[in-house]
Amino acid sequence: MDRSTTVEPRDPMPEGYRRTLVRQIAQHAHSEIIGMQPEGEWISRAPSLRRKAILMAKVQDEAGHGLYLYAAAETLGMPRTELLDALHTGRQKYSSIFNYPTLTWADVGAIGWLVDGAAIVNQVPLCRCSYGPYARAMVRICKEESFHQRQGFEILHTLAQGTPEQHAMAQDAVDRFWWPSLMMFGPPDADSPNSARSMAWGIKRFTNDELRQRFVDIAVPQAEALGLTLPDPELRWDEERGHWHFGTPDFTELAEVVAGRGPCNAQRVAHRVRAHDDGAWVREAAAAYATKHATKHAA
Ligand code: ACO
Repeated sequence: MDRSTTVEPRDPMPEGYRRTLVRQIAQHAHSEIIGMQPEGEWISRAPSLRRKAILMAKVQDEAGHGLYLYAAAETLGMPRTELLDALHTGRQKYSSIFNYPTLTWADVGAIGWLVDGAAIVNQVPLCRCSYGPYARAMVRICKEESFHQRQGFEILHTLAQGTPEQHAMAQDAVDRFWWPSLMMFGPPDADSPNSARSMAWGIKRFTNDELRQRFVDIAVPQAEALGLTLPDPELRWDEERGHWHFGTPDFTELAEVVAGRGPCNAQRVAHRVRAHDDGAWVREAAAAYATKHATKHAA
């Protein structure tokens, strides 16, 4: 594929390319929307008004990311109602990471630092994805994710410099979120059925293992700066490779969570379906208002 131009919605494209994009973009959009829940649970319990305002803005950003991505998927001929139905009935996936509970305030910091940090590593290359609408959506999303990552780092930094109890809370959050964050990059390359084709099509630019390694290389010095330990006894600098060596994530756990058997899968989807049903009147009112306006303009 010619890497200098992008594929646009009205360009001819192989059906497999279109299907792969719909799969990945939809999964990505669903992740943003479901991803509002673990942190949203902490808005009312944030430790100060400043933290509350920041967290509200962040969760709202995630909703916006979901909307850009659903709009990108719609350019491929997929109606949003169909995408939402696929999420609600479990036919389409969303990222495994959002099926873990947020037990303490420090988890909001760990999500910002590690989860959004991993998302950035995964998504910056997608700004050069071969499909134009997806690549363009990614540019703005990545900028906002950078803020999110820094606010998480700052929460953990404050806690890590605080009382021994606050430091312990930050460490506990990192202990629980480290391995699931590494799993966000997907199965190892040898077990990734989609990677080779997605790379050939320029949808993915790097493999799952390449990005996982990049993330570890970035996170290790940041953990040192925070004064927190990463829960991996195998972690050591590999002089020869010029990378940090790290242990193997539990990919059986990843498979279980992806199959719907993670700690919070049922709760996340049930909450999402409830919110969708409760919002039916808003959609109906917005549609009625749009019809009324269209008639007025036509008259
Ligand atoms: N969580 C849930 N499902 C996953 C995960 C994960 N962490 N990793 C892989 N999978 C799924 C894949 O979607 C694929 O399922 P499918 O073929 O039934 O659709 C299957 O496991 C096999 O994996 P791969 O062949 O490696 O799949 P793929 O090439 O799509 O790579 C990846 C997976 C890296 C997640 C890719 O889809 C991607 O880069 N997506 C865009 C980024 C994204 O979705 N981020 C969401 C979280 S970030 C955030 O929202 C803050």
